Amino acid sequence: MSVHPVSTCTPGSVATAPLEVLGRDVRVPLVTGGEVTYAALDYAASAPALQRVWDDVAAYAPYYGSVHRGAGYLSQLSTDLFEQSRATVADFLGCREGDQVVFTRSTTDSLNLLASVLPAGTQVFVFETEHHASLLPWRDARVTYLTAPRTPEQAVASLEAALAQRDPYGPALVCVTGASNVTGELWPVRELADAAHAHGARIVLDAAQLAPHHPVDIAELDVDWVAFSGHKLYAPFGSGVLAGRADWLQEAEPYLAGGGASRKVARRADGGVDVEWHSTAARHEAGSPNVIGVYSIASACRALTEAGFDSLVEREQGLVTRVRAGLAGVPQVRVLSLFGDDAPRVGVISFVVDGWNSSHFAAALSAEYGIGVRDGLFCAHPLVRTLLGSEPTEPGECGSPETEPGEKSLNAIRVSFGAGTPDEHVDRFLGAVTELVRDGAKWNYRTEDGRCVPARD
Ligand SMILES: Cc1ncc(COP(=O)(O)O)c(C=O)c1O
Repeated sequence: MSVHPVSTCTPGSVATAPLEVLGRDVRVPLVTGGEVTYAALDYAASAPALQRVWDDVAAYAPYYGSVHRGAGYLSQLSTDLFEQSRATVADFLGCREGDQVVFTRSTTDSLNLLASVLPAGTQVFVFETEHHASLLPWRDARVTYLTAPRTPEQAVASLEAALAQRDPYGPALVCVTGASNVTGELWPVRELADAAHAHGARIVLDAAQLAPHHPVDIAELDVDWVAFSGHKLYAPFGSGVLAGRADWLQEAEPYLAGGGASRKVARRADGGVDVEWHSTAARHEAGSPNVIGVYSIASACRALTEAGFDSLVEREQGLVTRVRAGLAGVPQVRVLSLFGDDAPRVGVISFVVDGWNSSHFAAALSAEYGIGVRDGLFCAHPLVRTLLGSEPTEPGECGSPETEPGEKSLNAIRVSFGAGTPDEHVDRFLGAVTELVRDGAKWNYRTEDGRCVPARD
């Protein structure tokens, strides 16, 4: 079975230098005294801006103007830039002729937009392992939730079995993530797309975690739509993308009603209003567009393409190997995985530490080592609970360990990295994990609003 190709590295070897990102020199205080440069290891939540993106946005900022509205020079220029950005994103995603690129606020927004245009009676198929952004938008449709597969092959077989049962005449949509925001594991997107199409269903790819790490080619993967967010793609200016087939988008009512989406509006004799909506991407882009957000995404697409995904993937795989090998050397650490150790994955790794409340561990990494990770259930509650084998229970107070060695954890810790991560951040993280497990926290922590924070004295 082919998943996305991932080149491998010998453990610890890292091919090229990281891309320049903002924040690499930011110093943060430690509770134990002194300060260190911040190690941003929460890329899966939001990645730092690429320096190149920031520079492009700064160069454009003086020329900022209204899009699609003004007669002035800067309005014209901004409108051109906005539409060129659409073309750049279409190229980045390898869009087919006739595909549309709609600019949204985020992946969540993109998938909610798609949910709002589903033809009547659409059956939706989604794995319960999905991020909530992929799991929840289909509330008005008939949804089949597929249980957690333990191999990529099982995922395809389970989808095939579910699709075989479906009403063959109605429309159907499969929603699947390209790379898990919990385990980093790659899903067999092309095979799932083949299964969907063989049963007359369409498929949308949630590429929020895939696009920052791998090339995403809509035609090669044969998916009908792709959604991703700028802020995970080093372009944190509030825009996202939904790209793909135009028909469902253009046959439905606009996602938002308002200026920009409407071509013609006229009063009727009976006092009502007649509206003619656009049949381009603008149909779903009502309101003043976020030209900076959109331009920043195009800039990131160009920067990643020019840097070359081959070398970015190679470098990241070196870091993945290093982190996984380092964590494997700490017996109290258990890395969470759905598809097993050999599954190809991106730089997103979740784990639990025996005897530790995950919030306590993450707070100590931050306060004592200047390392930013995330703890919790990562907006994928069913998946994380399946992997932990635990029930939805509130975690206990921090300070005292919530679990005895061998007991199930209620939350996990996630470390994630990407094109801007220097080796030192990963080394500091592994050193900190080893030290915390061996020596315990140096500081006292207390619970505030359900989270662990350093006690003031
Ligand atoms: C796999 C996946 N899908 C969707 C989302 C939602 O992205 P956003 O919050 O940018 O809408 C996330 C965010 O973490 C994600 O990891």
